[in-house]
Formats: sequence, C-alpha cells, structure tokens
Amino acid sequence: MGIKRYFCRRSSALSTAIQDDTYMEHTYNRILVTAALPYANGPVHIGHLAGCYLPADIFVRFQRSKKKDIKFVCGSDEHGVPITIRAMKEGVSPQQVVDKYHTLIKDSFQRMGISFDIYSRTSNPVHHETSAGIFKKIYDLGLFEEKETEQFFDETANVFLADRYITGTCPVCSNPGAYGDQCEKCGSTLSPEQLIDPRSTLSDAVPVKRKTKHWYFPLQDYEAWLKQWILEDHKEWKNNVYGQCKSWLDSGLQSRAMTRDSQWGVKVPLPDSEGKVLYVWFDAPIGYISATKELTANWADYWCKDDTRLVHFIGKDNIVFHCIIFPSMLKAHGGFVLPDNVPANEFLNIEGEKVSTSRNWAVWVHEYLNDFPGCEDVLRYVLCANAPETKDNDFTWKDFQDRNNSELVAVFGNFVNRAFVLMHKLCGGKVPKLHEDILEQKDTVILQEFKLTATKMEDAIEHYRFREALFEVIDLARKGNKYMQEKEPWIIARTLSEHPENQKAIDNCMHICLQLCANMAVMINPFLPDTARKLLYMMKVVDKMLDWENAGKTKLLSVGYSLREPQLLFRKIEDGEIEAQVMKLRAGSILPAAKTEVEAAVPEEPAKKELPGKPEIVFDDFAKIDLKVGTIKSAEKVAKADKLLRLEVDLGFETRTIVSGIALHFQPEEIIGRQVVVVVNLAPRKMKGVESRGMILMAEDAMGKLRFVSPSEAVEPGASVS
Ligand code: MF3
Ligand code: ZN
Repeated sequence: MGIKRYFCRRSSALSTAIQDDTYMEHTYNRILVTAALPYANGPVHIGHLAGCYLPADIFVRFQRSKKKDIKFVCGSDEHGVPITIRAMKEGVSPQQVVDKYHTLIKDSFQRMGISFDIYSRTSNPVHHETSAGIFKKIYDLGLFEEKETEQFFDETANVFLADRYITGTCPVCSNPGAYGDQCEKCGSTLSPEQLIDPRSTLSDAVPVKRKTKHWYFPLQDYEAWLKQWILEDHKEWKNNVYGQCKSWLDSGLQSRAMTRDSQWGVKVPLPDSEGKVLYVWFDAPIGYISATKELTANWADYWCKDDTRLVHFIGKDNIVFHCIIFPSMLKAHGGFVLPDNVPANEFLNIEGEKVSTSRNWAVWVHEYLNDFPGCEDVLRYVLCANAPETKDNDFTWKDFQDRNNSELVAVFGNFVNRAFVLMHKLCGGKVPKLHEDILEQKDTVILQEFKLTATKMEDAIEHYRFREALFEVIDLARKGNKYMQEKEPWIIARTLSEHPENQKAIDNCMHICLQLCANMAVMINPFLPDTARKLLYMMKVVDKMLDWENAGKTKLLSVGYSLREPQLLFRKIEDGEIEAQVMKLRAGSILPAAKTEVEAAVPEEPAKKELPGKPEIVFDDFAKIDLKVGTIKSAEKVAKADKLLRLEVDLGFETRTIVSGIALHFQPEEIIGRQVVVVVNLAPRKMKGVESRGMILMAEDAMGKLRFVSPSEAVEPGASVS
C-alpha cells in the first residue's frame, strides 16, 4: 500500500477577529478503528448505535471501499461494579450475566450490519494477560502511588460500597431516600458521611468504614503533556470533545485509583493483593489492544507503529477516559500509538426525553430488529441522518416514519425504480448508448454532479461529518428525479412513430439515470450496505463496483448490458406501525425491569425510587383493570342518599347503571353528555338498593373538589383506556 496523505483542519470558531486555520499533515499507512466496548449488563439501544457504532461502521466501510489497510475492533466490557450488582440482584454469577448479554449484544450488532473485524470480550484470558501486563509494567516503572484509605463496606454483602449504593436521610431536606452522592429531591451534593441513618442498598446493612490499599495513577504528572498534545496539537478535534478536554485540563487533574476491592475483574498482578482487581476503566480500553491481538498476529503494527491512524469512536460520557486517562496510561507505559482523533457523539434522546434504562425509556435494538424485519438500513439511515454529532438530538417515531417515507421511499427508492422501469420499457431492458453529439446542458450538469457529490462526501466522511455525507447522496437522488422529470422520456416516447431519431434523446436520459443509480450504490454503500447490495443484484455487477474509486465515474455500467427488473428497496411505513411503537415505549416505561428484564445497573441512576402514596405495582396488576370511556346519558339523585347520583352510562357495547358519590359536587343535569372513564370490570355492588356496575374515575384536589377524568377530545363510547 502506497503512502497516502491525509489532511485535517480546524477552523477556530472561538476566535472572532482572526479566522485561525491550522493545517496539519500526517502520513498514515494503516487505520485502526475502535468503538467503545459496551457494558455486558444489558442490551444495546438505538442511542448506543447512533452514538458510536454506526458512525464507526460508516467510517470503516468507507475506508475499506478505499482499499485502506484498516481494522475495526470492539467487544463486551464485562467487568465493573454494575455487573456484579446485577448478578447479586438476579442471584446468578457475574459470568452468567455477561454470557447472556455478550451474546445478545453481539447478535444485535451483527444483524444491524456493524462490521467489526472482531467482537471480543474482556473476560477472555488474552485480555486478562494483556491488561495485567500493562499494569505490571507501569508498576515496575514506579509510576503508581500506593495509598491506604478508609472506605464504606457492607459486611452482609461483603463488598466495598460505591457512594451511590449507600442510601439514607438527606440532612438538608429530610428526604429518606437520598443517596451517598446526591439527594435527588433537593438536589444537594452529598457524601455518604452526611447521610442520617445510612444503609447499604444491597443488603440494608449499616455500612462500616474499612481500611483498604489501592494503586493510584498520578494524572497530574501528565497534565502539561496533555495540554500540549490535545489543546495545541489537536485543535481539529470536534468542539464537544475539545471543549470537554479543555475544561478537565483547566480545572486540574488528580491521582485516580486504578484498582478496586472486588472478586470480579482482572486480578491485580502483585503479591498480597488478594481481593483486588483492576479498575474497570483501566482494563476496558486495553480491551481494544487485546481484541487486536486476538484478531491478528500483526497486532503490534496497529498499536506500536506511528504511521497508524488510531480513531476511537465513543459517546460523550466516555470522553475523559479516552482523551485523558487512557492516553496517559499508554504514555506512561510507552511504545503505543495515541489516537489521531476521538470523534465522540452527544446523546440521542427518545421522543423528547433522555434515555433511561432503569425506566425502560429506550428503543432496544434487538426489539427493533424483530418488529421491523428487513428494515435494518432504515434504522441506519434515520440514526445517521439525525445523529447527535454536535449536540444532543431527538429520535421520534414520527421522524423515523417521515424520513423513511419521504426520503428513502419517495426520493431514493423512487428514482431507482423509475429509472429501471423506464429502461425496461423504453430501452429494451439494456443500458442504452450515450450519444455525445446531442448532449444538452442539463445532461452535462448532472454528469458533473456525480464527481462533485463524491468529493464533498469524501471530505465530510474523513472529517467525521456523516450526516452531511449522507445528505449528499439523497440530494444527488433528488437531482436525478428532477432531471428525469424535466427530460420526460415517457413523453418523448410518444413522438417516436413520427420521429424515430428521438430515441437518441431517450437513450441519453436513461443512460445517465442508470449511471447515476450505479453511483448511488457506491455512495450509499458505507451507510446502507443492504441497499447497495440490492442495487448490485439489479445491475448484475460484482462487489468490486462498490470500490470508492468508482464514486463520481460516469461509465460504470457498460452499454448494451441487460439489467434485472427493479426490486423494492424500501417499503412505506404505516401510521399503525409507529403508533404501536410509541405505545410500546410508553407502556413499557411504566414498568421498570418487569417486562424486559432491563434495569439500571449503572451507578449513575438510582436503583429504585420511592413513590409517594401507594406501594409500587407491576404492570400485570394494572393490566387487570378494564378502563373504558363512557358517555353519561342520564343522571338523577338516589332517594335517601344525599351524596349519590344514579347514572346511565353508554359504554358503546351496552348502557350501564352506575351509582356514584358525586351528588354534592354536580347537579344531575349539568353532567349529561359528559365523557368519563369507567372501571368496567369492578364487581357489581348494591348501594341504597340500586345495583352499581362500575366506577367512574374522578380527580380530587387537596380541597376535596372533584373533577371528571375524561379524554382530551371526544371519542366513541367504549374506547379503552390504558
Ligand atoms: N463500557 C463503557 C460504557 O459503556 C465503555 C468502555 S469503552 C473502553 O460506557 F474503552 F473502555 F473500552
Ligand atoms: Zn435533600
């Protein structure tokens, strides 16, 4: 492979007066791409895909199509406190937890077309050896500080407790459910010592202090070097990444413990360190190295030669670990390349709310795959078109439907379909000739667009602007549609009996449209690989056509070559399908953990929250109640009962008598015609001699005033409420 030059540029948006453009030139001979190792304590959701796996995959597929020497590594992050806690709660071993999720996650990635060269896992022996070896070397160089501190310990569960796992009463607002790091009610930042009546969330035991020894990595010693390396030498990094690094570096770095007390993880490779393992953020990024070792005997070329372009794709919560801690570790160890870039994305919210695994507010990839078989590319499309590249973004099912129906179906799919149908109708199913002598300006303009689009895409992808690159492909298809619409070959066809020479104009239009389809296959390939494959099949060409060097070429399909019938590239997504998804999301979010087995195991999120009022129920409890909308047809006072009204309520399938204790609140005549919500499967009950068959839902305020609970707009009586 020859030496390729790659330029990167950062135009500083910070300086106002001077446009400070810094150019740097690197010479790279191979690329190593990593994607954050997901924790094997739950399935992956679409936020994970949008945050790092999809952009990484697009980048890799693009570089592969440019015939670059590239490796793409990932795997499951199987250590850390959340996994042990999850295991404890489920009453299984940590190994059982990670085995289950490793398989599920790996399968989801594969089905979504995330094309890792290897998807490994940190419980592999090669990883234990590698990470222990790196720790030992840094230890032998005398770079760790050894410190003894006191930490909270749970004597029942026999574990040291992270602050988040201690709960008690808030000293500020007396909330009995405050955590050792924070009170969620009043927002105070706390330390476990401040809690009144502290308890372990794991066993309810009273935590005790215990002495423990750990090895600390002195990050402050790397501060000056990091400032130079990031703030000066990598001004081209994305603003969100650069900004986070700058604020960490500006506020000063401190030593950080690189070991933990636990039985689960990579054992500390030192004598007298029983019960101690490497801190998960020490071992996990080394997982990239271990995975590369497992993948290829030439692993050291990728990790130790400085003509490797190393790129870490991550989500924003991982920035400090990949830009500051891991590079400092590698620097301390010596001999490893450092990342050329760390293109972190921000977060993807769902329907306007932050993803929460504990509340099950998420779209799970394995569920999507089952609900929308054959639509993997649609999700890839929507997540890329709407990727949180520069700021948090929102995924909505409506936008998913709109982008599918109005961009993939109406623009991309429609153009390809029309081109193929017309070619069969007007050109005998073969690629027609291009008659240079009658080329018009419209023809030459669109032909030039091929190359322009390819160039713009290339620049965008090299600089991690995938949304922009994808937009260019769709825009090219849009231009194709417009071109075809203006040329109207189907109208020209009507003139053929009188002017057979007009076939040449038809040929030119169809020739150009088909070459455009071939270009679209090359260009869409990194983003929507299944779609590119379908196009290849229709054009009866081999994979080689998808090489990026073909992007922008105007003679990809040979004249006279016969092509297949068009295939359906994208189908319309119906309202009902997305309504079902929105309902599923909302219904699922009521029942944390119960239905999906997915529950927060991340320490940032509270494990359980006290609800004011009645005790928590599971969804099945709620599902037993049959609620329907009814319309009040008549209302009258019940004799000898000043509080009761006898109502006749139309429930669609029948009209029922319901006795309700609302007579002091409403005049009978004023409520006729009102829509109300009725519990229809409540056992019948006699009140003052009248049998009541159901109950009407009312909202009662603090003053005891009652109001009806009713649908915000009129609905048919009998509509169910859930
Ligand atoms: N498991 C971590 C997370 O999901 C990411 C680890 S990335 C690695 O946030 F570099 F440490 F591997
Ligand atoms: Zn409080």
